Amino acid sequence: MPIPALQALPPGVVNLQDHEDAARQRLDANAWAYFAGGAGDEITLRANRSAWDGLTLTPRVLRPLVGGHTRCTLLGRTLAHPIMLAPVAFQRLAHPDGELASAYAAAMLGAGQVLSTQSSIALETIAQAVLPEPTRGPLWFQLYPQHDRGFTLELVRRAEAAGYEALVLTADAPVSGARDRERRAGFRLPPGVEAANLAGLAVPPPRELAPGQSALFDALLHQAPTWDDLAWLQAHTRLPILLKGILHPDDARLACELGAAGLICSNHGGRTLDTAPATARVLARICAATEGRVPVLVDGGIRRGTDVLKALALGASAVLVGRPIVWGLANAGAAGVAHVLRLLRDELEIAMALTGCHTLADAGPWLLDTQ
Ligand code: FNR
Ligand code: LAC
Repeated sequence: MPIPALQALPPGVVNLQDHEDAARQRLDANAWAYFAGGAGDEITLRANRSAWDGLTLTPRVLRPLVGGHTRCTLLGRTLAHPIMLAPVAFQRLAHPDGELASAYAAAMLGAGQVLSTQSSIALETIAQAVLPEPTRGPLWFQLYPQHDRGFTLELVRRAEAAGYEALVLTADAPVSGARDRERRAGFRLPPGVEAANLAGLAVPPPRELAPGQSALFDALLHQAPTWDDLAWLQAHTRLPILLKGILHPDDARLACELGAAGLICSNHGGRTLDTAPATARVLARICAATEGRVPVLVDGGIRRGTDVLKALALGASAVLVGRPIVWGLANAGAAGVAHVLRLLRDELEIAMALTGCHTLADAGPWLLDTQ
């Protein structure tokens, strides 16, 4: 695949909200319903945003700031900054260059990237394109186990062979949430956009349902991962495994005991269980439950550098952004995603300077104290 051409940004886009407004004008109703929507009444979707807004940052002043930086460490690597791209499926719905464009942007801006199982470009193409880039951040593969275990294992082998550095097992989506917007819009993938990594996967054999059995519990959920599958996966890969979608401290503890390499505190951007708590509200409890054994990352509604700083103050090692990638893509392909990442990082630096944080190690609960 050729390197994506640089596209100009629409005028007047200076923050992520502007990116969202511009992207809404460019994407059709079908794609917008898929990307923007949440589950149910979208209470969690909205709560993710308002919870970050509801935290105040109380600055310290007159501290020396020269020589400060946004560097941090994650799973033994030094990153230029703590902002990563969350796994977002079917990015070619937003731009023909899809995940390749976001991967180039991430690599250029030193951002880590998690590629979705349901990427619309093959995992090998993405890895080949960005692994040689010296400035790139970590490259991880998000795993949705498939009904065919052999196929799932093959997917893991392909990710290993291609050079992915960790697996992210998504735990919060055994089924899709009740997505009213998608149903109203009659959402469907247009021709040419497909789950490229899943080509060749056979249709699951139909399961005979006895009278009274549930099509959800007795058929669909056979492929949903369980804690036993974490052990199965660990036995079959040398890659570290992070669990994505952790909201309860007991699950955080269990994940540590079972050897997870990291956790992502996430409610899937409000797309799975509606009325699940905003991640900003549970993050500190999740971090406390891990007792520092593994890094905790967080996503959901992160749209400002101040949100990133708040997440780190609550104990996160890094943050991920989902929908803003799509907005950047829709607005200007790779250049748009790079712009989104640059804005967030610039805003993070400004927030650090204005709160008296010389490095991210200075960010702590004191920043959020209101007395
Ligand atoms: C997602 N998310 C997601 N998560 C995952 O583990 N695998 C996936 O394939 C996808 N696909 C996906 C598609 C779209 C359109 C969205 C918006 C989200 C969830 C994603 O990784 C992340 O948790 C949220 O998007 C974070 O919230 P924000 O930043 O979108 O508010
Ligand atoms: C979604 C799935 C792909 O949120 O995770 O659309």
